[in-house]
Amino acid sequence: MTGNADDTILLAVTGWDPDVWQTEFAKAAPARKLVLDADTAKDKIRYALVWKQRPGSLMGLPNLEVIFSLGAGVDHIFHDHQLPDVPIVRIVSPDLTMRMSEYVVWQVLDHHRLGLRYRQQQTQKVWHEDRRQPAAHEVTVGILGLGVLGRDAAQKLRNLGFRVSGWSRRLQTIEGVTSHFGKDGLKDFLKDVDIVVCLLPLTPETKGILSMSMFAQMKAEGPLGAPVLINAGRGGLQNEPDILAALDRGMLSAVTLDVFKTEPLPKGSPLWTHPQVVITPHAAASSSPQALVPEIIAQLESYERGEPLKNIVDKAAQY
Ligand code: NAP
Ligand code: GLV
Repeated sequence: MTGNADDTILLAVTGWDPDVWQTEFAKAAPARKLVLDADTAKDKIRYALVWKQRPGSLMGLPNLEVIFSLGAGVDHIFHDHQLPDVPIVRIVSPDLTMRMSEYVVWQVLDHHRLGLRYRQQQTQKVWHEDRRQPAAHEVTVGILGLGVLGRDAAQKLRNLGFRVSGWSRRLQTIEGVTSHFGKDGLKDFLKDVDIVVCLLPLTPETKGILSMSMFAQMKAEGPLGAPVLINAGRGGLQNEPDILAALDRGMLSAVTLDVFKTEPLPKGSPLWTHPQVVITPHAAASSSPQALVPEIIAQLESYERGEPLKNIVDKAAQY
């Protein structure tokens, strides 16, 4: 278990600039070796830090002990079907949680306070006084996924006065939040929600869950009109043609999407120009190297002192 001067860390990232991660590692753990390419140190690599690693790139490392995901989600790891049999640890960090809660509160308030409509009115120089302004306590925000991120967002929305409900795989209890769980609990969860916030992981069970069959179970009218959908989980959770159809049929009144089936969202996607769609570029809660690297090093050091790893992914459930 104890660290050895020859131990090497592999930083296996695609789509992200590795430089800033390397810089933070050099600051936080100057004595540790970090490589970007496994081939240079195959038998010395003890840990791998990964974001969308190239498939197969974690195989053939005989001394690899732990894979650390550089994000909270781990679907990017399971996308690779050639994975070594070592524990996978994911990010759970106050920094990332706060970023996600900020995003959720921002988007919930924007829809609640008719931000889309007022921005459209401003571009047309229209002054239309709308006196209909539901109070937060009249609006139910339902959170799909009551994990680390969902729980924190739920509490912050409660503090703002919203009615909050949640849905998870197993029963989760949070003070002031109405909990539903399992396949059987989804119907009851959906029938009351005005704003649905999706913070689910992408797994074989949740893939494509944000679809017409879900939207059809939501109520037709509420204080904000038809329900609003906010997805900051993963693009693979959503059926994009179904979302557009639900908007056009008035089954959803507006949508915020941070994540997409294909990222970057292709220029030809009709989502870009739909007047009831807010798009952010997978930016709800970015992994901050400055915040996360010291936390990863601290976890690595405690592991080397013989303490158990924290935030281990359940490989069967894939989250
Ligand atoms: P987490 O702590 O693992 O929580 C996941 C939640 O989803 C849990 O409540 C879990 O239920 C629930 N869940 C999983 N499978 C389910 C199913 N089949 N049916 C019902 N509920 C299910 O994860 P987290 O840290 O909150 O992160 C959630 C996701 O956010 C990540 O996986 C990632 O995809 C996404 N994310 C996005 C961004 C961004 O910038 N857009 C940033 C960070 C994370 P149990 O409580 O019963 O286990
Ligand atoms: C970002 O999407 C994450 O999973 O942390």
